[in-house]
Amino acid sequence: MSAAAGPPSPAARASAVRVRAARTGDIETLERFIADYTHDGTLLPRTHANLVQHLRDFRVAHAGARLVGCGALQIVGPELAEIRSVAVDPAYRGLGIGWRIVKTLVADARRRGVPRLFCLTRRADFFARQGFVEVPKERFPHKVWNDCRLCPRRHACDEVAMERPLTVTARRSPPANEARAAIPAGELRVVSTADA
Ligand SMILES: CC(C)(COP(=O)(O)OP(=O)(O)OC[C@H]1O[C@@H](n2cnc3c(N)ncnc32)[C@H](O)[C@@H]1OP(=O)(O)O)[C@@H](O)C(=O)NCCC(=O)NCCS
Repeated sequence: MSAAAGPPSPAARASAVRVRAARTGDIETLERFIADYTHDGTLLPRTHANLVQHLRDFRVAHAGARLVGCGALQIVGPELAEIRSVAVDPAYRGLGIGWRIVKTLVADARRRGVPRLFCLTRRADFFARQGFVEVPKERFPHKVWNDCRLCPRRHACDEVAMERPLTVTARRSPPANEARAAIPAGELRVVSTADA
């Protein structure tokens, strides 16, 4: 007699989850997903227009067609980016998915040459394990001005600001003639003003 197949183990569920860049087809799901965490002030609300504008910031975690997590890296200046809108579906928590999303966002920040990351969170423990340290919120006045004023909890804020410096390895751009030499001759073409 064969044993009846039970529900997949946590390890099997976690390994079925992939983290990838968000696509335009994710916008509506992402909007609903984030909205589910805004009622109690866990996440700041994001409008459809704002999600369209910032779609390139987002990574999504999905199990097949189901969106199970998200997070975004928003560049706020040449030296600073914010990790925001990090959430995992309660049915998928504790499986390392939030960890993977943040790790991917940190890698995105490194690739873009960002030397300093910050976040505002109630889960200081979660971010501390990923190398963030608590700092005064006053370090990020633009955040308080732009986003916190929209938060339902703005008069009783219990979030902490956390920061993580990154080591960025600057990549030298090759000189123009070196870059041209790297292109196979067949792929070089002269662009006339009519093409431009
Ligand atoms: C915070 C949140 C995103 C965490 O997501 P999650 O997928 O449940 O978290 P993970 O499974 O990745 O991490 C769970 C634990 O394993 C640890 N962990 C996971 N992967 C790990 C790894 N590869 N190495 C070491 N530790 C790891 C985490 O540090 C964490 O430890 P804890 O249980 O003691 O807290 C999730 O709880 C959530 O959506 N909360 C509501 C929204 C929210 O509060 N977002 C943060 C606002 S910015």
